[in-house]
Amino acid sequence: NGLDAKTLFEGGEGITYNDFILLPGHIDFILDTISLDTNLTRNIKIKRPLVSSPMDTVTESRMAISMALLGGIGIIHYNNTIEDQAKEVRKVKRFENGFITDPVVLSPFHTIMDVDTIKDTYGFSGIPITEDGTLNSKLVGIVTKRDIDFEDNRTKPLSEVMTRQLVTASSGISLSDGNKILKESKKGKLPLIDKQGRLVSLMSRTDLLKNEDFPFSSKDKGKQLLVGAALSTREEDRERLAELATAGVDVVVIDSSQGDTIFQIDMVRYVKKHYPHIDVIGGNVVTAKQCKSLIDAGVDSLRIGMGSGSICITQDTLAVGRAQGSAVYHTAKFSREYANIPVIADGGIAHIGHIVKALSLGASAVMMGGLLAGTTESPGEYFYEGGVRVKKYRGMASHEAMEKGGGKRYLSVEDRIKVAQGVSGTVVDKGSVIHLGQYLMQSLLHSLQELGCKSVHDLHQGLYDGNLRFEMRSPSAQTEGSVHDLYSSKEPHLG
Ligand code: XMP
Repeated sequence: NGLDAKTLFEGGEGITYNDFILLPGHIDFILDTISLDTNLTRNIKIKRPLVSSPMDTVTESRMAISMALLGGIGIIHYNNTIEDQAKEVRKVKRFENGFITDPVVLSPFHTIMDVDTIKDTYGFSGIPITEDGTLNSKLVGIVTKRDIDFEDNRTKPLSEVMTRQLVTASSGISLSDGNKILKESKKGKLPLIDKQGRLVSLMSRTDLLKNEDFPFSSKDKGKQLLVGAALSTREEDRERLAELATAGVDVVVIDSSQGDTIFQIDMVRYVKKHYPHIDVIGGNVVTAKQCKSLIDAGVDSLRIGMGSGSICITQDTLAVGRAQGSAVYHTAKFSREYANIPVIADGGIAHIGHIVKALSLGASAVMMGGLLAGTTESPGEYFYEGGVRVKKYRGMASHEAMEKGGGKRYLSVEDRIKVAQGVSGTVVDKGSVIHLGQYLMQSLLHSLQELGCKSVHDLHQGLYDGNLRFEMRSPSAQTEGSVHDLYSSKEPHLG
C-alpha cells in the first residue's frame, strides 16, 4: 500500500521529483468541485499555486500580468535599474483587463506624420486626441486610419482631420458593458473618460476576442493585480525597496541562492520594520535549520531550492544543495509545525507532474523559470536555432546575466573572478503563457482528483496524516512510466 511521506523521506537519501510516484486515492467528487486556493505567504492568498521566477528571461510586467490574471503571481527580476524595476511593477498595478491604461495619445497640434510614425512603431493608427496630448487631459477627438488614408499633405495638423463626434464611455464601466458598446458602435476604439471629460483609458476592438474573463485573478483590496519584486540583500537595495513600495508592490522576494545569512536576516528585519504592509518571501533554503533563521527574522513565506533549477550548476560547482523533493518535504514540514509559514517550491519543475509532486510534499505554490521561459510573455525576442523557434533562457548566475547584475544573488564580490553557478541556453517557443497556465492548472485538477483530494489543503492533510501514499521508482519504473517502445511519437503540449 505504499509508504507514508515520513518513512520515504526520513531515510537520509536525497529524493527528487522523478524518484517517487503517488498512489491513487478514492474519487467521490467531480473535477469542478476541486479548489486550488492556497497561501503564497502568511497573508496573501491566491487561487492558483503558480509563481514566475524573478529572472531576467522570465518575469517582467507582461509575464507578471498574465500570472496574476491566471490566479498566480509574477516576481519582477532586479537585473535592471531601480527605475526600470519600479516601472514594471507600476505597469502591473495599473493594468486593467481589457482596458489600455497607457494608450498612445496625441494633441490637435501634432501632424499626420506623427500618426504615421506611431503606425510604423506600434502597428496601429487609432489614436485619441486630447487638449495637450497627454492622458488625463480633456478628450477632443480621435484619429483613425479612415481620417488620414487619402490625405496627401502629411504635415496637416490633426485638428483638421480628426473625428470630433465620439462614442465614449465612463471610466468606471465594466469589461462586458465596454465590450457591448464596442460591438454596437462598430468603432475601432472606445475612449473611456472621467466626469470632467478627461481621457482615462481606451478599449480596442481588436482586443475584443482577447478580452476573456479571468475568474481566478489575483487582486489586492483595490482590485489591482498582485505583483511581487525581487531584492538583493545589499545595503543599496533599501533604496530599491523604497521605490518598489511607492510603485505599489505587494510582496518582495529576498533573492539569494543561500538564504541563511546575516545579510538576509538584516534585510528581512528592515522590510518588516519599515514596510509592515509588504509581505516578505525569504530564501532560498533547503534545510529546517535555515528555515528557522529566516522565520525568526520575520519572513512570511519561504522559497525552497538550491541547485535544482534547469539552468543551475550550483550542485556540481560548489557541491552544496539538496535534491528538490527532500528539500521541499523537510522545509515544508518544519515551517508548518514551527510557525505555520507556507513554502514555495522553486526550481526543477520540468514537467506538469512535478507541480503536483511539489504540492504533495507540502509546498503551497511552485515557482517556475524554465517552464515559463519561451512563452510570448517572457522577455526577449524569438529567433531560430537549427530551424526551431526559440527564446533565450539563462541562469541569473550565468556569466552573461552576472555581467548585468545577476551576481547579487550569489554574494559575488565586485572586481573578483566570477564563478558561474548557472548556464545560458535556449528554450522552444511555447506560445502564450495564458494558455500554458490554463493547461497546467487543468492538469493539476485532474491530478488532485486521481489522488482523491478536493483541495491543496486536503493534499497537505493527507501528507501529514499518512493518508497520502508514496512509492519509490526504480530506474526501470521511471522508464516504464514515460513514453517507451514507440517507433515515433509527437510531443504533447509540454512534454
Ligand atoms: P527552473 O528549473 O524552473 O529553475 O528553470 C528556476 C530557478 O532556478 C534558480 N536559478 C539559479 N540557480 N544558478 C543556480 O544555481 C543560476 O544561475 C540560477 N538562476 C536561477 C532560481 O531559484 C530560479 O527560480
